[in-house]
Amino acid sequence: MTTVRVNASDTVSDETGALIIGVHGSPEGLSTAPGAASLDQALDGRLTEILTTVGFRGKAEEIAKIPTFGSIPAPVIVAVGLGDQPDGDYELETLRRAAGAAVRSLAGTATATIALPAATAEQAEAVALGGLLGAYGFTRYRTDGDLRPPVGELVVLSGARGAEEAVRHATTVADSVTLVRDLVNTPPSDLWPARLAEIAEEKGGEAGLSVEVLDEIQLKKGGYGGIVGVGQGSVNPPRLVRLAYTHPEASRTVAFVGKGITFDSGGLSLKPAAAMDWMKSDMGGAGAVLGALLAVARLGLPVNVVGYMCLAENMPSGSAQRPSDVLHTYSGKTVEVLDTDAEGRLVLVDGIARATEDHPDLIVDVATLTGAQIVALGWRTAGVMANDDALREQVVEIAAGQGEGAWGMPLPSELRKGLDSPIADIANLQPERWGSMLAAGIFLREFVPAEVRWAHIDMAGPAFNKGEPHGYTPKGGTGAITRTLIAIAERYAGNGETAETVQ
Ligand code: BES
Ligand code: MN
Ligand code: ZN
Repeated sequence: MTTVRVNASDTVSDETGALIIGVHGSPEGLSTAPGAASLDQALDGRLTEILTTVGFRGKAEEIAKIPTFGSIPAPVIVAVGLGDQPDGDYELETLRRAAGAAVRSLAGTATATIALPAATAEQAEAVALGGLLGAYGFTRYRTDGDLRPPVGELVVLSGARGAEEAVRHATTVADSVTLVRDLVNTPPSDLWPARLAEIAEEKGGEAGLSVEVLDEIQLKKGGYGGIVGVGQGSVNPPRLVRLAYTHPEASRTVAFVGKGITFDSGGLSLKPAAAMDWMKSDMGGAGAVLGALLAVARLGLPVNVVGYMCLAENMPSGSAQRPSDVLHTYSGKTVEVLDTDAEGRLVLVDGIARATEDHPDLIVDVATLTGAQIVALGWRTAGVMANDDALREQVVEIAAGQGEGAWGMPLPSELRKGLDSPIADIANLQPERWGSMLAAGIFLREFVPAEVRWAHIDMAGPAFNKGEPHGYTPKGGTGAITRTLIAIAERYAGNGETAETVQ
């Protein structure tokens, strides 16, 4: 895994394989960003001239590599575009993406030095985080040497007060996101519910979390009909993992619930092949919950956090649940399964109902829940729904602070009727396609007691990047919403005195 450290001076070691600098571009031409000044001096002030010569425009995330022929200790300069010079402070996301794009272009390099704007601890953290996330590579299954290994070490040049601690924070967060990406990218033949539960036990134990795992027998006995129903078609039985972190000074409890379908074939309501080949990503929500809990524990946040990973493999077989089966969920409500491919909501409601027993101040569930989320908001913007408008807007705002796309969506009550079942309390599918993301949210809300504040994040698109890498986001598993969950826990951390400010 890539490591990062801070160098408070602006001297570049001669061991570094590349020096990353930021450059602004505007109609008036190029200008170097803070951090690049001493390099520009070393090049007799000719840096922007050199970059102009090679056609560099300074557009966001644009990359140019310039060999230095021994004029500075680093053999190559990597200029990354930062777009227009901002009027005020840099957007932290601009810095994260720039660092990510630059580091991503350097796979195979042992050490890279980052001289991007890092005048404040916040900026140093953004640069470190973007760099670490951009360094990500998933090489475990490659034997042909075609993938170059990620950058080994990053050195962030920053004299800012608090930079060391900020960069440590970035490392903790990046470790979690990296784990989630690895889990999402792992083929489902190597990651089934019990295996993922084992990983949670292992990693959670190391981080000091208390971890409980319910196996299929305990789930059946315990009345977790949703998880059991979805999992019963697979030779790999389901699990429910409970991760708990407590802090002696905490005055609040936050609950996270993640959808963890290690592979979603659709079940008997089988998916077409083209919709199935990336359904290993359907455990991204549970991954994000695990990643968030690990980070919360490693950071020692003064807040209690409990996380549920609802794990099952959705497969067709002679033992699979059938369309028209009725499940008895943990909440006591019955659900008619009209479509076995609408399985996420079935496992989630068991996790949500169980989470209410922890008496949390809020529940946030996160799930790759509906294709309709992608229709409505595209690949990079998650849909946020809630039974509390202020909470919904708070989650959207927290996600934005992390540079994670998220947008508030309504839960129109007229959609509830479409979920009526002739025989059970509710059906898992509405007869029409329109508004399916919202209908799924409406379904979940039925299982949340009115007095419990609850938000739901549908990240079907953001969890997996089927397109080309961009910024600090690789192809494949993205680790989406992990950072948002960590930031939510941070927002709710603290003692009773600040409690009123979080509503
Ligand atoms: N895991 C899928 C949703 C999904 C789709 C995630 C695309 C990521 C990318 C979910 O279980 C599902 O199959 N949803 C169905 C629900 C429908 C049957 C109501 C969907 O959205 O098509
Ligand atoms: Mn499905
Ligand atoms: Zn699914």
